[in-house]
Amino acid sequence: MSQVLDVLGGISAEQFMSEYWQKKPLLVRNALPEIADLLVPEDVQSLALEEHVTARLIKQKDKDPNQWSVKSSPLAKSDFQKLPKQWTLLVQAVDHFSFELSELWKKFAFIPQWRRDDVMVSYAPRGGSVGQHFDFYDVFLVQGHGHRRWQLGQMCDEDTEYVPNQPLKLLPEMQINFDEVLAPGDLLYVPPGLSHYGVAEDDCLTYSFGFRMPNVATMMDRISDHFADTTNLKNPLRDLARQHATPIGSMTKTELDYLKANILEQLQNSTAIEGILAGLMSEAKYPDHLPEPDELEADDLLEILDSGYELMLEPASRLLYIEQADSFAFWGNGESICISPDLVDALKRIADGEVLAFDQALQDPEVLADLAQLLNDSILMLLPPAEEA
Ligand code: SIN
Ligand code: CO
Repeated sequence: MSQVLDVLGGISAEQFMSEYWQKKPLLVRNALPEIADLLVPEDVQSLALEEHVTARLIKQKDKDPNQWSVKSSPLAKSDFQKLPKQWTLLVQAVDHFSFELSELWKKFAFIPQWRRDDVMVSYAPRGGSVGQHFDFYDVFLVQGHGHRRWQLGQMCDEDTEYVPNQPLKLLPEMQINFDEVLAPGDLLYVPPGLSHYGVAEDDCLTYSFGFRMPNVATMMDRISDHFADTTNLKNPLRDLARQHATPIGSMTKTELDYLKANILEQLQNSTAIEGILAGLMSEAKYPDHLPEPDELEADDLLEILDSGYELMLEPASRLLYIEQADSFAFWGNGESICISPDLVDALKRIADGEVLAFDQALQDPEVLADLAQLLNDSILMLLPPAEEA
């Protein structure tokens, strides 16, 4: 039998994938108890004031709670003065600023890293919410500090209508069929399209572990950029064989099919598309969150080898690989990465979420040079020995 997971309430990842993922909600009590005291409201509020942090302050008018307003970052202390009774602060990518939080992604290791978006944290006093809405993506809502009441309703789609003239995409109504209060450590999986409404019961922090998928328009855009830059595609096509004259105002189906076939042939036979998509999906969502480390060289790394350091993926970076017949191709933060074959196994393990001891196994000069580059590019980070941390 496959392994059951506490984070899924004692069902296996396989069962979750076939019964719930993208289909229906799942409530798990006490799924992630370690999140309960990870952050307190003040931590989230002070993070929201920092440079480069993406945050939104959502307010409902005291006199008419159906009137909403949104202030996007940069936020200042003064934004938190004279707040109405009902408000919510949303801070994106808190996992890039809290190592403990980013480690909690490991609880969701049954979904590949390239599908991860970020962990948004909401902070609201009693009564605060972001309204009745739906999202186009999968999310695990995990309750941290305090309590939130979650109601779930009908499935929605791109044709669903929103409340007019509001700065948020709110639903005019919800047919509620789930109504539960989540306590610290509880988790609620919400599939894409399912309407949801979470109202703070007291001073409350909710963590949204969000999963993204690209849309076809974005992928097409990248692919067309590539083809538009391909020199040999810039020559006009040869005309198709013409057997008889056609009316001069007409563009025939045969002519259109010929033009279209030339485009499809390029798409079909291109070996570039995999790389374009891997590059796209490895882009950092918030490049501003990447630290700017002091430049290292292979010799600097040699000096600290075997002294307790550990190597891991920088939480704000993305690293993925494509397994080919007899090799692995790596992409990190949007770029293809070329490394010594001796580093492949270690880098693959890091991309798979492992934290590796920085020891003798990595002493090869070429491996150290590659690692220095990956550290200088902030794709990897070095974790100092515990006593020095
Ligand atoms: C919240 O935490 O208040 C909102 C999260 C969501 O609805 O996706
Ligand atoms: Co939502």
